[in-house]
Amino acid sequence: MDRIKLRRAIARTRLAPVAAFPKRLRAVARYDAKVLSTSARWLVQSREHHNYTYDLTPLSRNHLAWLVSVVCDIPVKQVRAYLDEIEADDNLRQHLQQAIAGAERRGLADKQIRYARRIGWYAIVRASRPKHIVETGVDKGLGSVVLAAALLRNAAEGHPGRVTSLDINPEAGYLAKVAPWSEVVDLVIGDSLASIAALDRPVDLFLHDSDHSTVHERREFTAVEPKLAPGAILLTDNVTVTNVLAEHAERTGRKFLAYRETPVNHWYPGDGIGVAW
Ligand SMILES: C[S@@+](CC[C@H](N)C(=O)[O-])C[C@H]1O[C@@H](n2cnc3c(N)ncnc32)[C@H](O)[C@@H]1O
Repeated sequence: MDRIKLRRAIARTRLAPVAAFPKRLRAVARYDAKVLSTSARWLVQSREHHNYTYDLTPLSRNHLAWLVSVVCDIPVKQVRAYLDEIEADDNLRQHLQQAIAGAERRGLADKQIRYARRIGWYAIVRASRPKHIVETGVDKGLGSVVLAAALLRNAAEGHPGRVTSLDINPEAGYLAKVAPWSEVVDLVIGDSLASIAALDRPVDLFLHDSDHSTVHERREFTAVEPKLAPGAILLTDNVTVTNVLAEHAERTGRKFLAYRETPVNHWYPGDGIGVAW
């Protein structure tokens, strides 16, 4: 009996799990060794302790382009042009590098600028041209400044808009406090639920990225519903963890899609974009 026939014969016996064990051990050890070496390199090279940044794999970037294409109903080539646009924006990249280098908390930030899924937020803003975006959760302000960059390009093409960025931390948003990006950003400090209740302009694009608990996420979508403009787009940064936006979409008669990003060279498995429209 040759080796293949012998293996197939063993696979049909009670010895199969024992015979397969070395192969299974090799597979999991190889996978874990890769995660460990990526983690060790990250511990030495990165300074970030939360809200990690990284680039997307080419495959993940392409899937993101298709997500935006479907949601915004524009050709995927156009979306790819928007993704290229933000990545090639040297003015923005230089501003971010300088702001991080001069920040008091620079010891907890990386010098390299990596936008991860935020390039998808950028493309959605470029495609849908919102007059008013609300982002909950600002942290350093990387998302706010990416949204602002898209709004500035829209304005140059005759479609102005502003972003209201909400955070409970008074130190949040330092990356978004420099012109020209700051000219379209309204930073509001306070609990997001109170700030949403105080909104006095219709919201065309809403992004949840604050307290990622299920309860808080649900409360934000409930609170913002009466503030939304017709045809508003809802985004969540929490889609790999909760089903809140999917349930909200179902309750309110919207469509829903979820995208899970894949980081390059990072131990963190990535977040995602949930979108209801
Ligand atoms: C993941 S970070 C935001 C990341 C940011 N959107 C970005 O693109 O980098 C979460 C932020 O939510 C803020 N936050 C937490 N609970 C909040 C609340 N109840 N209201 C407003 N902001 C809150 C935190 O202070 C933190 O800065």
